[in-house]
Amino acid sequence: MNTVITGLQWGDEGKGKIVDYLTETADVVIRGQGGNNAGHTVIAKGEKYVLHLLPSGILWDDKINVIGNGVVVDPIGLCVEIARIEGQGVEIGPEKLLISDRAHVVLPFHKELDAAREISLGDQKIGTTKRGIGPAYCDKVNRCGLRMADLLDRPFAEAQIVRRTAEVNEILEKYDLPTFTAEAVIEETFTAFERLRPHVTNTIPVLHKAWKAKQNLLFEGAQGTLLDIDFGTYPFVTSSNTTAGGSTTGTGLPPTAIEAVIGVCKAYTTRVGSGPFPTGDEGLSEYLHNLGREFGATTGRARGCGWLDTVLLRFACMVNGVTGLAVTNVDGLDEYEELKICVAYDIDGTHHDLPPADRSSWDRAKPVYESLPGWKQDTTACTEYDQLPENAKAYLTRLSELCEAPIAFVGVGPDRAQTLKR
Ligand code: IMP
Repeated sequence: MNTVITGLQWGDEGKGKIVDYLTETADVVIRGQGGNNAGHTVIAKGEKYVLHLLPSGILWDDKINVIGNGVVVDPIGLCVEIARIEGQGVEIGPEKLLISDRAHVVLPFHKELDAAREISLGDQKIGTTKRGIGPAYCDKVNRCGLRMADLLDRPFAEAQIVRRTAEVNEILEKYDLPTFTAEAVIEETFTAFERLRPHVTNTIPVLHKAWKAKQNLLFEGAQGTLLDIDFGTYPFVTSSNTTAGGSTTGTGLPPTAIEAVIGVCKAYTTRVGSGPFPTGDEGLSEYLHNLGREFGATTGRARGCGWLDTVLLRFACMVNGVTGLAVTNVDGLDEYEELKICVAYDIDGTHHDLPPADRSSWDRAKPVYESLPGWKQDTTACTEYDQLPENAKAYLTRLSELCEAPIAFVGVGPDRAQTLKR
């Protein structure tokens, strides 16, 4: 079954773990959007792996992993990541990792442009991961970016880098940020590119061949629906389509190739960076941080935490066409007495069951809660859905009703074995 895994909140839903679980039956694991702003933590055989650009299937010996055309690739960051994962005993040869020749390149100055933009926004800053993702996508859309295929034509790429560096330096000087010499950008980029060159190929026919051969395709989403450039809490979003549609435009496989969409959400809500967060709750944040939970894999930032928000989840299930929900981190709520679920937003006295588009409505949205009793029981040792405490099952059933999507998986801990199938 060709399956998209997509985040239903603001990222960090535990997608890596679900992807890892489903990878067992997949032949090809594909990333179609985002870049190394993503951070997927996978715990397998007791070892912890943090992946940013590498698809989670990389941890398996017999899977093909594809970084699709819709991804923005930082060659230097990817080389560091490959070396780190290889250092953990995982081999990454060209037959196992394919990088689309159409994928755009994140250049060193994109990270500084990211910083410059944040400075210019002042207290309205997005809170980006500073990985240069927005500026790289800007260059792509502005038709002045470099693609992997362009790096194969070194004279062309060098001329383009010289031109772009001069433009970029003008902006950086304005913010007193370090400027670049084109020579240094060229040197650093091509040193990294030489390591990646054997992996760069036209991935589209490879994917189509796998599809036609009825191999199992797994599309690994990064970030989440509320960070989607079209459907998220704009402008506090990332710069790609994180929703299911990004899996087709970002890979060259058509919508008809997709057979299932698994939407991943936590049993509560978290977000990093700036922007609206109606169900954010200091008490719950403190509780989860005290448990050592909810610190970002990419930046180490403490995530803001809040109650489950089914206004957002309902919308996310709609725009992604979710066929099954994967609810992770259920164990995070094990000791809580009473749990709240947001069922609507009250905006100026009117209840809304879908999120607004305009910024001022977001600022005025007050969550309308339902309360459910906690289960006050350790769930981490459960190996089957039916072993979950009755109150945990009631909480999941209510979540499913409100989102109009069935529960497919439940996560009760970080290990591969702690994913329960419904
Ligand atoms: P950017 O993607 O670095 O431009 O950051 C834009 C917004 O998306 C910021 O709020 C980031 O914190 C958020 N973001 C980007 N990637 C992730 C992720 O993998 N998990 C959670 N938030 C993310």
